[in-house]
Amino acid sequence: EQPQLLAGKTITITAGPTREPLDPVRFISNHSSGKMGYALAEAALQFGAEVNLISGPVNIKASTGVNLINIESAEQLLTESLTYAPQSDAFIGCAAVADYRAANIATQKMKKQGDELTLTLTKNPDVIAAIANLKQNRPYTVGFAAETQNVESYAKGKLQNKNLDMICANDVSQSGLGFNSDHNALTLYWHNEQLELPTTSKTEIARKVIEQLAKHL
Ligand code: PMT
Repeated sequence: EQPQLLAGKTITITAGPTREPLDPVRFISNHSSGKMGYALAEAALQFGAEVNLISGPVNIKASTGVNLINIESAEQLLTESLTYAPQSDAFIGCAAVADYRAANIATQKMKKQGDELTLTLTKNPDVIAAIANLKQNRPYTVGFAAETQNVESYAKGKLQNKNLDMICANDVSQSGLGFNSDHNALTLYWHNEQLELPTTSKTEIARKVIEQLAKHL
């Protein structure tokens, strides 16, 4: 039994990858498994919150009790996030959102052509920045930063530029941590504090993140 630190609170969490279609059979995506986001949802539920989990395609089952909303693309993620975030006390963006999508989605399967193929990509909306900049009913907004270098400065940059309240930085260059593993290590940054969470299971680290969130809500 966990202390009910989040009783009466609603938390919306995004998890997993997005898929950006190229044609009816192909897409651009990334290695996010959803494990970190689903662990956060489970922890928030155990701490007594109502949980909305907006998820890209993953192979994990959400526990009963979680309100699961399935999406594929970043644009779908934005639409659902704009629906659920304003009704929430906190929004956690753990999804690995593709920064770009195909400028044109082919309606028929693309045929093999010459030795090179050039894809034109166009920028996706920044979902968490849209939530953090809501003028009304803005939830406490928590981002993640997946970095392979300059972890601290890039994470602090995202905290500022995206107008977040808190960011959880993971160094995804370390093998066995971050994308598609069962463990993670995070540094949490606020505008005037920081906290190191050393390597442990995603289940355990998710509890610590949610505990910190509850303290700051
Ligand atoms: O799913 P797992 O396999 O368990 O792996 C977990 C994880 C490594 C994916 C997770 O811990 C993590 O770091 N998620 C964020 C990955 C990411 O996209 O980071 P980013 O630094 O590119 O983005 C920064 C923040 O902006 C994130 O909160 C992201 O959700 C958000 N974002 C990014 C781009 C975009 N167009 N819209 C966004 O909302």
